[in-house]
Amino acid sequence: MTKATLEQTAEAMVADGKGVLAADESSGTIKKRFDSIGTDSTEENRRDYRHMLFTTPGAAEHIGGVILFDETIRQKATDGTPLVEIIKGAGMIPGIKVDTGAKPLAGFPDETVTEGLDGLRDRLAEYVELGARFTKWRGVYRIGEDMPSAACITTNAHALARYAALSQEAGLVPIVEPEVLMDGDHDIEVCDLVTEEVLRAVFNELAVQGVVLEGMLLKPNMVISGQDCPERAGVEEVAALTLRCLRRVVPAAVPGIVFLSGGQSDEEATLHLNAMNKMAGTAPWKLSFSYGRALQAAPLKAWSGKPENLAAAQAAFIERAKANGAATLGSYA
Ligand code: 13P
Repeated sequence: MTKATLEQTAEAMVADGKGVLAADESSGTIKKRFDSIGTDSTEENRRDYRHMLFTTPGAAEHIGGVILFDETIRQKATDGTPLVEIIKGAGMIPGIKVDTGAKPLAGFPDETVTEGLDGLRDRLAEYVELGARFTKWRGVYRIGEDMPSAACITTNAHALARYAALSQEAGLVPIVEPEVLMDGDHDIEVCDLVTEEVLRAVFNELAVQGVVLEGMLLKPNMVISGQDCPERAGVEEVAALTLRCLRRVVPAAVPGIVFLSGGQSDEEATLHLNAMNKMAGTAPWKLSFSYGRALQAAPLKAWSGKPENLAAAQAAFIERAKANGAATLGSYA
């Protein structure tokens, strides 16, 4: 697998007007989502729900890549067609979450380090066989007293870079996701400082470990006020501070930045991305999305586990996909 192939895949995922659908909820997370609509999290229901998303007519106009969970990349539709083939056939690129979750960081009880490096080379080889062309790994950073600690920042940066290097070795484009959580009552300036420090550590490690920047995507949080901050910054400020932070630390060689939504409402996530693209001018990277909740909240609710709601759910999904596609061009109205 050549460097050129990695670059082509990364660029296709963030082609004009396109972003990424994060549909890689682990078993625990998808159960929480299904609980919210009163639906049992059975393998069949998970398959039917995701099949609904992947077969939405016109989705590929706005969605360049789809992140899957291990179970999903092995699942087949009722007619026997693998879901991966459905995604490819529609013109989207399948990818896979390869971390095994954020686990308590020894000595730092309120923080985590993301695991999944043991045996990763072999797992990546299998995912290539199953049709994946990119991967995702999420490191998590909490803002609080003495947090994130240097231990949390360095261990997660190291793991993200090891994961990214292994992915590229296997010919897979790594989505490097360091997420500074929105939880807390901190203001936007604190988020700005922490995000800059976290991203700087990540890019230092990526450089140390020889990760090809042209063949990866960055999936960061936006610079945003804490969820419980009494005075939350508005759309223009979020966009301006996020852009300033990224310009300080993300090398121009990175082809795309695909934000996570991280608990923003779907409309907020779209407005923020749109404002950034309006403001960005000659930014060196594409500014796009890799949303989970902000793309799925509406279709999940519309679907509510009932096959007869399929058309309504797909309509809700395409509405969000289209809105975010427009936001990548700064033309969302
Ligand atoms: P959210 O957009 O719901 O934050 O999910 C994105 C994701 O993939 C988190 O790892």
